Amino acid sequence: MRIPFIAGNWKMNTTVSEAAELVKEMRQGLDAIAGVEKAVCPPFISLEAVRRIIEGSSIKLGAQNLYFEEKGAYTGEISPSMLSDTCEFVIIGHSERRQYFGETGKVVNKKIQAALRVGLKPILCVGEKLEENEAGRTEKVIVEQLRSSLFGIGAVDDLIIAYEPIWAIGTGRAATGEQANETISFIRHNVAKLYDEDIAQRMRVLYGGSVNAANAAEFLSQPEIDGALVGGASLKASEFISIVKQASEIRQAR
Ligand code: PGA
Repeated sequence: MRIPFIAGNWKMNTTVSEAAELVKEMRQGLDAIAGVEKAVCPPFISLEAVRRIIEGSSIKLGAQNLYFEEKGAYTGEISPSMLSDTCEFVIIGHSERRQYFGETGKVVNKKIQAALRVGLKPILCVGEKLEENEAGRTEKVIVEQLRSSLFGIGAVDDLIIAYEPIWAIGTGRAATGEQANETISFIRHNVAKLYDEDIAQRMRVLYGGSVNAANAAEFLSQPEIDGALVGGASLKASEFISIVKQASEIRQAR
């Protein structure tokens, strides 16, 4: 059975002191919940402060991005090994990075390879745009994203995939549980094609896009959905704790 995974993507929110406050507010509540893997992904500059606060707790740490080169003249970038001391996870290929920072499948692929090289566990984001969804191209887009992102990558045991339909991110317009389940089942099927059925069955595939405490159960109760990548709602301690709690309860009921 795949262990549910709930990650909070704080995006470009919180100053260092706000990040520290937020994770302090979450710590006790999250620690009381068993059977779910939980992670928070604060901005780079807050990683160290958050790491100190979650030391010894069940909360894990992720970054929101990395650069694929190890070091050198790449002003403003953060390398894999700068993160691997502090973080366990790294979000790669988020649609906001693809959309605003021009990240292509090739770049995403290099970033995944770089993360795996230093032992960081990538959370690879895939998902279609509204117009692609409306034109019935969701599956085609996802196959292409999976193929390009995972090209030449052999070891995928540490990889998590997040299905995030772009039209559902930050819009308050979440997909339905069934829609998300169907696409995630399709993703798993394609992972099996790229690798094998065993790997596909072990791989956790999350849903992301306007998940909150009120709609989380709809997604988390679906058989193919192994957790959530939560944006906006992860900036409120009580909302995030509630989502993790629901994941735990649903798992226990299985
Ligand atoms: P949202 O963001 O929950 O605010 O829609 C999710 C994400 O982009 O990871």
